[in-house]
Amino acid sequence: MIFITGGAGFIGSNFVHQWLASTDEPLAVLDKLTYAGNLENLDSVRMDARFSFAQLDICDRLRVGQLLAEHCPRAIVHFAAESHVDRSIQGPSEFIRTNVNGTFELLEAARAYVAALKGVERENFRFLHVSTDEVYGSLSATDNAFSESNAYAPNSPYAASKAASDHLVRAYARTYALPTITTNCSNNYGPYQFPEKLIPLMLLNALDEKPLPVYGDGAHVRDWLYVLDHCEALRLILERGRIGETYCIGGRAEKANLDVVRALCAVLDDMRPRASGRYAELIEFVSDRPGHDRRYAVSPAKLEQELGWRQRATFDVGIRETVRWFLEHEAWARRAGSEKDGRWFERQYATR
Ligand code: NAD
Ligand code: TYD
Repeated sequence: MIFITGGAGFIGSNFVHQWLASTDEPLAVLDKLTYAGNLENLDSVRMDARFSFAQLDICDRLRVGQLLAEHCPRAIVHFAAESHVDRSIQGPSEFIRTNVNGTFELLEAARAYVAALKGVERENFRFLHVSTDEVYGSLSATDNAFSESNAYAPNSPYAASKAASDHLVRAYARTYALPTITTNCSNNYGPYQFPEKLIPLMLLNALDEKPLPVYGDGAHVRDWLYVLDHCEALRLILERGRIGETYCIGGRAEKANLDVVRALCAVLDDMRPRASGRYAELIEFVSDRPGHDRRYAVSPAKLEQELGWRQRATFDVGIRETVRWFLEHEAWARRAGSEKDGRWFERQYATR
């Protein structure tokens, strides 16, 4: 069986659904259930005999170690993190606690667990660390896309905390021969994304006829990958990736934020037209994010060449799927966005 941290969040829950739909192998999810973690994301699999869940902080090394000993997983897939850049700017402490200290505690628990394994179980064990392209910093318009050999240059507390976690993972591979693999992926979008991130936030605001707050000039570029394509890449890397390696994962879909919001508005115009006018009329430019990285782009060439990965969803397909999912799960999105931390949006947007 495999062990998933952060499996009640956006990418983790998509991974769990995809995993259980495509293999018989059981999995156990460990998640603290912060504001971003939502057991409702796992409702449809909670009765599945192959699924189990424990509410637990990755910083709790002792209990994590007990769970590992109990479940005897052949792999840990580590998603758990604080993940929102704007929150890391307003309050970096939790990012250091979970992303740096938490990853450290998890690595220590994994190290002790692996030391007690023998033979083929020890040989086959993997620690898959899920990270971000943001560790590489910002590109100019003419720079080549990020690849595995780029130097780290994180610019936000979030990116710095993920960079620190990547370094710890690397050190555990080199020093203790922990069989790790690290992935650095671009911006994901799709079902179950917490509505603080660009695409679901804009979607809900549009449905509520609220302004669509584009930071700065809206020309900041991100590379977008449909979440299920990311999950497929992770499954492939877990099975066939080389120990100690890093794999960049990207969608070859660079887009300026303004174009993303316009594309989203156009799909909404089609699927749920406004009473009058077009959704793009709600776009407003607001003050920029401090230290806002200008451009991310990621080359998945190594993953494609070594492991034969191909993304399935183009941005045009993925964005339509995403809008359709949110329209069908509007109640989920509203509950997720308001229940645990309703005041975030006030703090974040009132003064912009
Ligand atoms: P998310 O914020 O939606 O989910 C994070 C999950 O981790 C939540 O379920 C939360 O409850 C859990 N968690 C947080 N702190 C914890 C702790 N101390 N102990 C146990 N669980 C804890 O994040 P996401 O977007 O699903 O991202 C998952 C991972 O993928 C993160 O490591 C992130 O850095 C990485 N990543 C995200 C993106 C993206 O576009 N979202 C892109 C590349 C990489
Ligand atoms: P986000 O979804 O927060 O992801 P990240 O910062 O990890 O890339 O933001 C994506 C882009 O959208 C980023 O350049 C910031 C911008 N953005 C806005 O313009 N307005 C918003 O309200 C949000 C949340 C993000």
